[in-house]
Amino acid sequence: MSQLEIVELKCSYGEHRVLNGINLTVKPGEIVSLIGGSGSGKSTLLRVIMGLTRPEGGAVRVQNNEVDYDSMSSVSEIREKVAIVFQQYNLFQNMSVLENVMVTPVKVQKRDRKVVLEEAMALLDKVGMRHKAEAYPASLSGGQQQRVAISRALALKPQILLLDEVTSALDPELVSEVLNTVRQLSREGITMILVSHEMRFVREVSHKVAMMDQGKIIEFGTPEEIFTAPRHQRTQDFMNRIAWH
Ligand SMILES: Nc1ncnc2c1ncn2[C@@H]1O[C@H](COP(=O)(O)OP(=O)(O)OP(=O)(O)O)[C@@H](O)[C@H]1O
Ligand SMILES: [Mg+2]
Repeated sequence: MSQLEIVELKCSYGEHRVLNGINLTVKPGEIVSLIGGSGSGKSTLLRVIMGLTRPEGGAVRVQNNEVDYDSMSSVSEIREKVAIVFQQYNLFQNMSVLENVMVTPVKVQKRDRKVVLEEAMALLDKVGMRHKAEAYPASLSGGQQQRVAISRALALKPQILLLDEVTSALDPELVSEVLNTVRQLSREGITMILVSHEMRFVREVSHKVAMMDQGKIIEFGTPEEIFTAPRHQRTQDFMNRIAWH
């Protein structure tokens, strides 16, 4: 069974076709990374999966159930199963770290507060933020806030986690602490779609890598295949450009 199946997915902004027939299958426990130039459609793909941007055609299936993006209940259902963390962590500034992690499970999922509290503390522990449970976001570094944002997403007990450039707003010295958190998750067998410009990291943690260009996946394979023997000229150019940085 596939965890996530995307078939011929299309999306446009006005006249501009941004996703041009995306096909992608993600198996349970698999980490698939999306790479590609700026504007190739990586964020849009994640936004469409979450029901934040409307698809124009094609299908998204989560555990063999097709999402109906015209139906609020179908979209809510997918948001129970799939969580996303963005580049900008968007923590609630007026809530403590702990409240940030607990608010959706308690208020929206209506889960038992005591159980959620225990889970939230365990999650904060896992990302090395337990000691800051009572702190407010404004008093934390970017890397610390991003680790809280990841534990907030995990508190929803998602079956699939989407991470969109979670390190790109961070100072270089904070990148590794967030990557360590993601690395740890990757060992726990959570299904993930990862968008990242950290190519060494992508190569290390991904089971599969999809190279996107102009709204299409132009090359798909193991990290070994994509990084050492890219077949497409566009992928080769992309790799060469990356190597310059
Ligand atoms: N809200 C929007 N309205 C109109 N066009 C948009 C909108 N969001 C994205 N686009 C366009 O869609 C295309 C794909 O954007 P997207 O953000 O998915 O790219 P990306 O691969 O995530 O790029 P980056 O690596 O820079 O984050 C771009 O041409 C962008 O200008
Ligand atoms: Mg993007």
